[in-house]
Amino acid sequence: MPKFRIAPSILSANFAKLGEEVTSVLAAGADIIHFDVMDNHYVPNLTIGPLVCEAIRPLTQAPIDVHLMVKPVDRIVPDFAKAGANIISFHPEASEHIDRTIGLIKESGCKAGLVFNPATPLHYLDHVLDKLDLILIMSVNPGFGGQKFIAEALNKLREVRRRIDASGRDIWLEVDGGVKVDNIAEVARAGADTFVAGSAVYGAGKASDPNRYDSVISALRAELAEV
Ligand code: DX5
Ligand code: ZN
Repeated sequence: MPKFRIAPSILSANFAKLGEEVTSVLAAGADIIHFDVMDNHYVPNLTIGPLVCEAIRPLTQAPIDVHLMVKPVDRIVPDFAKAGANIISFHPEASEHIDRTIGLIKESGCKAGLVFNPATPLHYLDHVLDKLDLILIMSVNPGFGGQKFIAEALNKLREVRRRIDASGRDIWLEVDGGVKVDNIAEVARAGADTFVAGSAVYGAGKASDPNRYDSVISALRAELAEV
């Protein structure tokens, strides 16, 4: 794995040809598939479930990073593990028992992530940091692609980076929402190492690129190379 990981969100892909979109974005150099699950209850939108995860699993060895925006969380965790998810992340507000949900994800054989909305305090990390594989900082309110990056997320990333480094553990620090070529370097300097980008990647496809997304992935990597 490179120092920085690019995780295109398939929320912004063309769902009429999802398999091709996943294959292209990885061939163009993406590292991870970010898989946004929304339930029209915890967030005001409805997307995709385990069946779609199962359908794309055979297309790649790349990690599938399932971002659960659902409430309740626990019932659906084993279904995603069976469907081939590698990482499962959830929001603390959506679980009645955060430590139990983390345990359930790990017992299912997946890496566990905790997600922080823009106004969610970091104290949820205080007693579970040593059990987490990934911390995801939302830089938009969850529910939709194509929103504007909330700058306060940079302060949050710096604080979480400090906590991760102090722990000495290998925990990925992911950022999600409004990340694009113009700001990815600044976001990396704040401490993120894993970058979700939905509209910035899938909105920038070029028919002239061999894998449709080569130019935009290269542009993101070029920015990261300067950090
Ligand atoms: C928002 C989702 C994001 C979304 C990001 O609720 O969690 O993953 O797809 O989209 P962009 O990169 O367009 O902000
Ligand atoms: Zn997401």
